[in-house]
Amino acid sequence: MKFCILMGSPRRSGNTAALVGEFADECARMGAEAQVIPLYDRAVNPCLGCKACQDCFDGPGCVQDDDFEDVFAAVSDSDVVIFATPIYAWYCTAPMKALLDRMVYAGSKRYGGSRGPDLLAGVRAASIVTCGYPAEKGADLWEEGLKRTCRHMGMEYMGLFCRRDRGGNEPFLDAEKARAVRDFAQALRLAIQVDGL
Ligand SMILES: Cc1cc2nc3c(=O)[nH]c(=O)nc-3n(C[C@H](O)[C@H](O)[C@H](O)COP(=O)(O)O)c2cc1C
Repeated sequence: MKFCILMGSPRRSGNTAALVGEFADECARMGAEAQVIPLYDRAVNPCLGCKACQDCFDGPGCVQDDDFEDVFAAVSDSDVVIFATPIYAWYCTAPMKALLDRMVYAGSKRYGGSRGPDLLAGVRAASIVTCGYPAEKGADLWEEGLKRTCRHMGMEYMGLFCRRDRGGNEPFLDAEKARAVRDFAQALRLAIQVDGL
């Protein structure tokens, strides 16, 4: 089983990174592959809206020469893609948004001369999120956007794990958060296995 973790936080030792570390470790413990892609270290430029990708049916077909196609290939090659991000202005961070804009067009050929394939159909998606507000006020818009993105692309949305950053001097990662994010990894694995039966 392959997990592709898109890491959308700029802070390498931050809150989201702490949850991703536990999650990836649990993946390894259960014998699953977990590739972490730090989006702040990749060049994925914003979508130009040219729609050239819409008439390319055998791949993403983006005109921009950057790291997008590599990231797209890693997502396409995985059983489940994890969108890991702190919430910035009620949504994911900018590098993840740029990737989503590119993915939603290059991955679903709906706006060209004829209707083409959904290249990421069947890939499962889930999210690991940290935010300052309580989850229902901090991560709700992001979760709704991600759900709709998945529906549009024929991807299977599997759920969101969120913990709040209350600030202060206490370390963000405590025993409860570490246990809970590991349980999230286990729950995703079980759901995929049951699906495959
Ligand atoms: C620029 C910026 C914007 C933020 N916007 C929000 C927001 O809209 N809603 C929210 O709940 N938290 C917001 N936060 C708080 C972060 O989501 C939170 O502190 C998070 O845990 C940071 O994760 P990190 O350590 O991985 O960077 C914001 C933080 C920053 C730096």
